[in-house]
Amino acid sequence: MTAELEARIGLAREIERGASVLSSRVVEAFLNVPRHPFVPAFYRRDGGTYLPTRGPGEEWLRAVYADEVLVTEVGGVHAEEAPDEGVTGDATSSSTAPGLMAEMLDALDVLPGDRVWEIGTGTGYNAALLCRLAGGGTVTTVDRTSRLVDAARERLRAIGYEPAVLGADGAGAPPAGGPFDRIIATCSVRRLPTAWLEQCVTGGVIVVPLGNALGGGAVACLTKLPGGGAAGRFLHRPAAFMPLRPKGSAVVPGPPAPVAGRRRSSVVGARVLDDHAFSFWVGLALSRSVVRDGGTLHDPADGSTAAVRDHPGRPSEVATSGPRDLWQLVESAWTAWRRHHRPRREWFALTVGPDGSHEVTFTVPDGSTASWRL
Ligand SMILES: C[S@@+](CC[C@H](N)C(=O)[O-])C[C@H]1O[C@@H](n2cnc3c(N)ncnc32)[C@H](O)[C@@H]1O
Repeated sequence: MTAELEARIGLAREIERGASVLSSRVVEAFLNVPRHPFVPAFYRRDGGTYLPTRGPGEEWLRAVYADEVLVTEVGGVHAEEAPDEGVTGDATSSSTAPGLMAEMLDALDVLPGDRVWEIGTGTGYNAALLCRLAGGGTVTTVDRTSRLVDAARERLRAIGYEPAVLGADGAGAPPAGGPFDRIIATCSVRRLPTAWLEQCVTGGVIVVPLGNALGGGAVACLTKLPGGGAAGRFLHRPAAFMPLRPKGSAVVPGPPAPVAGRRRSSVVGARVLDDHAFSFWVGLALSRSVVRDGGTLHDPADGSTAAVRDHPGRPSEVATSGPRDLWQLVESAWTAWRRHHRPRREWFALTVGPDGSHEVTFTVPDGSTASWRL
């Protein structure tokens, strides 16, 4: 057995052991589709620099078959073309962590013959798994640059798959081949685009990461309803996917503004935001424009900022500026979340109306419901 095959079997076993994937077809797909042809090079982060790691080699192979995200493009520069001293900027394409891919594919529930549309081809690895599950030429995948789609198309063909791989803006006109039985996005959107909803057949499934800088991103799994809307739930696992960007663009928003201003203490420390269940709740409770960088929150919409410094054994220090005390909103959300028995993200339902309205609801143990409009 080759080292590559041994590593691939190890990864499939790890996914199976994770037990959050219910379908043996998904595990079988990971067993049969190799990842290494899709990531001949990727970046490793070293402080603020992304350094290229190129295969073949032991370190490369270990990372390729680990349950890890592999960044493949930074600021539009692919790892294969990167200088040895590395590049700086923001990640603009990657191969998602296989465990998360498996959970999303499991939720998507692709059946043989399904027409599938993927938004975010990236390396092409997920498209290969989709081809394996759908059984061939009924998969269409799009990404924003020809550099990405040309490489993915070639690598897919080399291992025997020929989906339609198109350079197109996922937010633009839908590709030919629809309507689709299954739609999956591997980049995040703030709301489900109505074109995606319209392109899905009744009873079809849409798996989409809904980006929320504060909530860390949550993957929604929706079923298209007869009236034109969709309804479903969120997956348990948080997922901070890179956002859907305009075609050809590699620009991401800048970091939060520095903090100066009012100071106080708080018994709620910045670590609460690392709890995946609470971060989802607080993402719903606060304005969705709020972004987080470590212990700093910033709302570019009104310029409010809060910076929190935790100190073991004593209250945290909070510095706020701008019209709103963002940390006070987090403190209120923390109290409400605990009063509602610390709900997890998979306990929330999402309904998307035919008009594109989004409502998240949670049924409180006393039978009442709490709801938020996205
Ligand atoms: C996490 S990566 C995708 C991973 C990929 N499915 C794989 O298996 O390698 C997200 C991708 O979304 C793409 N993307 C971002 N904005 C897009 C847009 N407007 N239209 C299509 N793709 C987009 C990025 O270029 C990036 O390749």
